[in-house]
Amino acid sequence: MLTDNFLRKHTYLRVSVTDRCNLRCRYCMPPDGIELLPHDEILRNEEFEKIIEIFIKMGVKKIRFTGGEPLVRKGLVDIIASIHKAHPDITLCLTTNGVLLDEFMEELKSHGVSKFNISLDTLNRERFMELTGRDYFDRVLSNIEKIMQEDSLDIKINAVLLRETLSEIDDFLDYFAGKNITLRFIERMPVTEQDSSNEFVPADELIELLKAKGELVRKETEKSDVSQRFEMIYKQKFLKIGIIPPVTHKFCSSCNRLRLTSEGQLMTCLHSQAKYNLRDLIRSNVCEEDIMNYISSAVKEKWSGHKIECTADNKGCRSLTATTRAMSKIGG
Ligand code: GTP
Ligand code: 5AD
Ligand code: SF4
Repeated sequence: MLTDNFLRKHTYLRVSVTDRCNLRCRYCMPPDGIELLPHDEILRNEEFEKIIEIFIKMGVKKIRFTGGEPLVRKGLVDIIASIHKAHPDITLCLTTNGVLLDEFMEELKSHGVSKFNISLDTLNRERFMELTGRDYFDRVLSNIEKIMQEDSLDIKINAVLLRETLSEIDDFLDYFAGKNITLRFIERMPVTEQDSSNEFVPADELIELLKAKGELVRKETEKSDVSQRFEMIYKQKFLKIGIIPPVTHKFCSSCNRLRLTSEGQLMTCLHSQAKYNLRDLIRSNVCEEDIMNYISSAVKEKWSGHKIECTADNKGCRSLTATTRAMSKIGG
């Protein structure tokens, strides 16, 4: 079991399969873009499979594929198929921007992916273009419509809350109330050093806003859930709401997550600067036991949590330990 010095048990691995993305979301990438990794620095399919296999042996039960945008990675379905075949009991999840979902949904489902988190920050086509730099709004929405027909899937819509989209809360509620999804709003986190003073909307402000719009009931959550869960009756329709407040209500003390980056580095925290190079160990044929020992010691070095603090006016936040990686390279 991957237990750290704070007795947190790590059973959830987030695997970033590529640093590439087909959108350019403002809050996710630094303003001057990111430098992409050369192909040979990125793990090959069989290297992902080997490393994931080791984490499963060490107690990981849930794997979420992220990016960049995971669906632009060639061979993603093969990686997933191979893990599902060997370990049908592992929960497989995907976080995607939704652009390519129509091409891959059926295959992903057939290889055991049961949880889909889809990012959608606005319901306005022009604003989507402004925020993401790309004109894919219609395609994303049509893919969301398609996947919502699948009753057996756990689907979450992730909206990073921005001041400029707060006026769209009614539109979000109108669109998603009564549908087969959980609508989640996320406090925007600062990530890179360029990102030194970020505007964000505090979760409590949103909760007050939602309370004024309908009946909102707080639900119990699992200890490791990053979201506060609510059930809402809005215009006589039922809606599950999640609010993810990493800035104002940090949840690090119950963190169960580890991250594997596309170039094979283990990150013990989304915001940590320490990275552990698993790729070179795999490429130099170090034995599995030694790799496991290396991973165990890395996990023991995990810090208690991030150091994001609010600015004096409480309108912005900054990270005292910002990584130099864009969010797009870590996969959130
Ligand atoms: P579930 O399995 O559905 O609970 O997914 P998730 O919330 O773990 O994953 P998702 O990729 O949908 O992430 C939603 C938001 O939570 C993103 O903004 C992530 O950056 C953020 N998030 C996920 N894991 C962590 C974490 O360990 N720490 C912090 N601070 N934020 C996280
Ligand atoms: N703060 C919070 N969430 C972010 N995401 C991307 N960048 C940030 C940020 N700076 C979200 C994406 C996606 C998830 C993986 O992380 O919108 O839903
Ligand atoms: Fe875990 Fe780091 Fe996220 Fe805190 S910020 S919940 S320690 S990954």
